[in-house]
Amino acid sequence: METEDTLPRRDRPVLIFDSGLGGLTVLREARYLLPYETLLYVADDAAFPIGRWAEDDLKARLLSLFQELIAHHRPKAVVIACNTAFTLAGEALRKAHPETPFVGTVPAIKPAAEQTSSGLISVLATPGTVRRTYTRSLIDSFASQCHVRLVGSDKLAELSERHLRGQEVADQELVAEISDCFLERDGKRTDVVVLACTHYPFLTNRFRKIAPWPVDWLDPAEAIARQLVRVLEGNAAHAPSGALDRAVFTSAPKDPALMRLLAGFGLTL
Ligand code: DGL
Repeated sequence: METEDTLPRRDRPVLIFDSGLGGLTVLREARYLLPYETLLYVADDAAFPIGRWAEDDLKARLLSLFQELIAHHRPKAVVIACNTAFTLAGEALRKAHPETPFVGTVPAIKPAAEQTSSGLISVLATPGTVRRTYTRSLIDSFASQCHVRLVGSDKLAELSERHLRGQEVADQELVAEISDCFLERDGKRTDVVVLACTHYPFLTNRFRKIAPWPVDWLDPAEAIARQLVRVLEGNAAHAPSGALDRAVFTSAPKDPALMRLLAGFGLTL
């Protein structure tokens, strides 16, 4: 029997990782741009939400989880579809697995700085991403001419999962999490909000409705999928392998509603 270990590199899966369902915003773009790749979605939902984890504990967990995932699945590439994980452990993961190409997710501060007219940008992210040295250095390198407000949300990733599962999320709950993104200063207003957590783009339509004024909500998913296409150049699958796209959740849930939701993204749990 062929295992992933014996498969030729071309036919190995692309592993897309997040702590929960947020990475599906990236998976759907990857599916569109790379129709012949076999995708393996991995969610460390036993740890969700990771935005509140202490840095040392989270880094150790991610390194040991990827030790197992890479040994077991032999992915041709890994996409860390999670700002909280990548801004903390991206460099260490690349060092630990030099043979595996990693595509990361970092707050889209550079494109926001290029796009803003008012010079007022907000970065909406988990408390972990807001605290990271990585995020601060992105601001110093690419947005020093702008006023960047970092808005850490404790609850939005969970609210996004509730919304995705079809559960009620009241407008007031969302307003409480995003209102700090809107700043008025010297007659100017925030005009770009960076969605620096992959869970948040599922809520963009709700954000548009409750925002005090229109802004650009920057979702990096398409750019991440395009980077994956570049990384796979020469190694991309050019015909369907026949293998199913799968999802692995670390809590091993047996929830029929989750299975239906994943099936909507072409995934079998
Ligand atoms: N989706 C993740 C991100 O992009 C984090 C969600 C969580 O807090 O677990 O940062």
